Amino acid sequence: MQAILLVGGLGTRLRPLTLTTPKQMLPMLHRPMIEHVVSGLARHGVERVVMALGYHDDAFRAAYPDGRCAGVEVCCVVEPEPLDTAGAIRFACEASGMVADGGTFLAANGDVITDLDVGAMLRLHRSSGAEATIHLIEVDDLSRFGVAVTGAGGRVTAFVEKPSPPAPSNWINAGTYLMEPSVIGRIARGRRVSVEREVFPAMVADGTLWALRQNTYWVDAGTPQTYLQAQLDLLDGRRGPAADGVSVEAAVDPDAVVERSVVMAGAVVGAGSAVRGSAVHSGAVIEAGATVLDSVVGSGATIGRGARVTGRSLIGEGSAVEPGATLSGARVPEAA
Ligand code: GTP
Repeated sequence: MQAILLVGGLGTRLRPLTLTTPKQMLPMLHRPMIEHVVSGLARHGVERVVMALGYHDDAFRAAYPDGRCAGVEVCCVVEPEPLDTAGAIRFACEASGMVADGGTFLAANGDVITDLDVGAMLRLHRSSGAEATIHLIEVDDLSRFGVAVTGAGGRVTAFVEKPSPPAPSNWINAGTYLMEPSVIGRIARGRRVSVEREVFPAMVADGTLWALRQNTYWVDAGTPQTYLQAQLDLLDGRRGPAADGVSVEAAVDPDAVVERSVVMAGAVVGAGSAVRGSAVHSGAVIEAGATVLDSVVGSGATIGRGARVTGRSLIGEGSAVEPGATLSGARVPEAA
């Protein structure tokens, strides 16, 4: 099985972190987000991944110069301009030569961290004769997602992107798809095409779209809250043995408190400071007496002495928070 991973988005919701590093190259625990996604797919038999790149494509190519990522063969393709989710799938298929292979392929948003059973999805895809099968997950807050209604055997009877309330179902598009090559023919070439707004509704009209409803572990890690949550879940052991968040190469003062947090290699956490529910990236410095709560401190950033950074603040790479400052839900630099 081959997979296309969509990793060319701007990641605006994670700015300013994504101004310098594309979303899927941001660290998640101690390795880039993309490696969690790729190794998850590899566990389910994916042997080759095509990365559909755009924004900051150089970061991916520099990280995987030998064409392997998390033990899987990767091929990088770069869109000349952002083509949106379906346009990117078509471009990646053609540019990588996948389309010529002619088989079922997987496509996924590159920021979806999930334990989806791809094998179960493939069985449904085969037995139903679907043209495409999508993974659905049940959520309470539907505002950010596309919602699907399914009928007998999982055939999708309605697909509505970000519906106004009341939504027709609580099952949302979880961002992993199995597709037949014929889907490519539905996507106009050379312009922006959304898989959620154009391709899936057209397939519903033709009765060729199926869905697997599976409430497995799933996080769309594209917001400050979910980017942190995906890491806390690893620390809390929600997806296997609890991980250790503090790198042996970090310098944490014995008088500092670090709780349920990631502190990466080269980071310094000073005396009397507290880091809780947060991620401190490589080389960042938390000065003495500072507090970092539910926030992300980017690589090489500094939190000044006695400062309080809370409420899902995002401190960009190399930025500085003044000593004694109090920030909640802040973005530094703010202009981002
Ligand atoms: P926000 O700006 O915060 O919404 O993030 P985003 O740009 O990543 O958009 P979103 O999370 O909605 O995108 C879903 C997935 O599709 C992500 O993995 C993106 O990287 C990817 N993506 C979105 N647009 C494009 C595109 O035009 N080309 C490619 N190759 N990938 C895209």
